[in-house]
Amino acid sequence: MTVQVSGLTLAGPRGTVVEDVSFALGRGEALGIVGESGSGKSLTLRSIIGLLPPGIHRVSGEITVQGRVGMVFQDPQTALDPLAMVGAQVAEVVRYARGVRRAAARERALDLMRQVQMPDPERRFRAYPHQLSGGQRQRIVIAMALATDPEILLCDEPTTALDVTVQRQILLLLERLRTELSLAMIFVSHDLAVVEQVSSWLLVMEQGRVVERGATADVIAHPEHPYTRRLLESVLALPRLDGEKVAG
Ligand SMILES: Nc1ncnc2c1ncn2[C@@H]1O[C@H](COP(=O)(O)OP(=O)(O)O)[C@@H](O)[C@H]1O
Ligand SMILES: [Mg+2]
Repeated sequence: MTVQVSGLTLAGPRGTVVEDVSFALGRGEALGIVGESGSGKSLTLRSIIGLLPPGIHRVSGEITVQGRVGMVFQDPQTALDPLAMVGAQVAEVVRYARGVRRAAARERALDLMRQVQMPDPERRFRAYPHQLSGGQRQRIVIAMALATDPEILLCDEPTTALDVTVQRQILLLLERLRTELSLAMIFVSHDLAVVEQVSSWLLVMEQGRVVERGATADVIAHPEHPYTRRLLESVLALPRLDGEKVAG
């Protein structure tokens, strides 16, 4: 197993926020965690990299991680330094991760920008975050996550801040990278329609607990928990702007 979480329980100032969460992720597998806002998804993910916010602590549970971990956060705005050129920001992570010289780091950063399909990467290397679109900024954030040569990629609502068309492009990119680089991926979102597109396994969280789990297709075809059915109904009620079938 690449990531194993057993009996994870977290508490904050007002009590338990994550309760007895367990799951395992093998090499190259894609696990989706879905649940409403506040259900404990981000804290579960942050536990894996040992990055809990102040005030939250682990009460019990075991976490084992085998392999390098990269993380993509929701908001590219806060993940990027507004005052530095985006290419330099990617190169900085490469230098830190690989301990290489500036020129080599720059070359690798350009490769990464190509790998995330940044249009015109040589020119965009020198752009500042505000000169890029939301989707392009998120590509940079993904390039920075890949700069550490991760085997495991953790994605926390990576498309939530994007509009539907761009969201689709970023999902396709993540799916392609996952296959190309044989990444194990955990993808967290409140949106079941998004999670199901990139996950072969699904974990449904409600108020800090796992209420349902299984192969994505099975969970969607036969949701057992009323909460999962509600999530599914809210997805099916939405008009599909890209005309694609969601569930089934
Ligand atoms: N820094 C914090 N301090 C105190 N409580 C927090 C903090 N972060 C999250 N929580 C609590 O933990 C719950 C789960 O948070 P989170 O994992 O961020 O949910 P999700 O990502 O599913 O929206 C929240 O409902 C909130 O009550
Ligand atoms: Mg969250």
